[in-house]
Amino acid sequence: MKIIGTGKALPALRVSNDMLAEFLDTSDEWIRTRTGIKERRLLSDEDLFDLSRIAANEALIDAGISASDIDYMICSNVANNYVTPSLSCILQGLIHAECPCIDINGACSGFIYALDIAESFLKTKDDINNILIVCAEEPSRFTNWNERDTSVLFGDGAGAVVLTKGDDLLAMQLSSQSKVEPLYYQRNLEKTPYNKKPEGNAPLVMHGKDVYKLAVSSSVLDINSIFKSANISADDVDYFLLHQANIRIIDAIRQQLEQPEVKFPHNIENYGNTSSASIPILLDELHKSGKIEEGDVLLLSAFGAGFTTGACALRWSLS
Ligand code: UT7
Repeated sequence: MKIIGTGKALPALRVSNDMLAEFLDTSDEWIRTRTGIKERRLLSDEDLFDLSRIAANEALIDAGISASDIDYMICSNVANNYVTPSLSCILQGLIHAECPCIDINGACSGFIYALDIAESFLKTKDDINNILIVCAEEPSRFTNWNERDTSVLFGDGAGAVVLTKGDDLLAMQLSSQSKVEPLYYQRNLEKTPYNKKPEGNAPLVMHGKDVYKLAVSSSVLDINSIFKSANISADDVDYFLLHQANIRIIDAIRQQLEQPEVKFPHNIENYGNTSSASIPILLDELHKSGKIEEGDVLLLSAFGAGFTTGACALRWSLS
């Protein structure tokens, strides 16, 4: 595979740490020093479908193709207003594409899992030449806004890429472990006359310290495995694009890899944790600002609920 276009969309509403401190027992100082977040964008008037459409169209324009050229669409999303149909089916109508559509839920690692699926399809299916991936997330709708532990961490947003056949992928590493307790969001289904089981229904539950430790150790394992399979070292990587969950997690991974800060671009300060959208949003910013150049080696790495992790290395050759 080869990425030929990127896009992003963020809600207009900027919510600063001080705005949260107006109704939560928190402070700008705590949030900044513990997480690196200064503000986040939250959906108010727009909806997730608007963000998905804008990010998708930006990526198509950047790729220089139209929606009718897309042969397959994958959306990564944890939850939205529709349980069914899928976000990708709804988005297909909004951008006027005519292709098979599927959603995946790999939590915050969803973008890497979507890239892996795209790589397999592009490699094995003659009739698939262009794939659109859209990661669109609204974690603000499943966190508890009375709880300072989780609500301050997240932001809404969407990131998209268009992929075509190519050989830019150097290595891919995915792993999933069934660990529900550290991070979950449970929804009640409709009642039936027969189902008498007690069921939970709670906003996002997170054991922050457990997630933190799992995140650092798993990401370092994944990244080292990528070095091995791509036959590269940390020094060969131009930029590490890590899931934007906490600047301290990014820094802990960076320290274990013994690499300079300049190789770890971040935007968590502006957007908070946008789940699976965080890496494609960052990628779009780096690409559109001209920071990443032809031939650069990028290492993408994410972790999320599941517990899922994923990493990949690719050589950037968009033009
Ligand atoms: O995409 C994956 C999603 N999740 C993550 O990546 C989260 C990973 N974990 C983390 O990023 C960090 O564990 C947190 C940022 C969530 C928390 O940082 P921490 O350094 O692990 O803090 P802590 O949980 O140990 O809490 C320290 C204190 C506690 O008070 P006490 O018990 O020491 O009195 C908390 O009650 O900070 C308190 N606290 C807050 N204080 C002000 C927790 N949240 C807040 C808050 N404002 N928003």
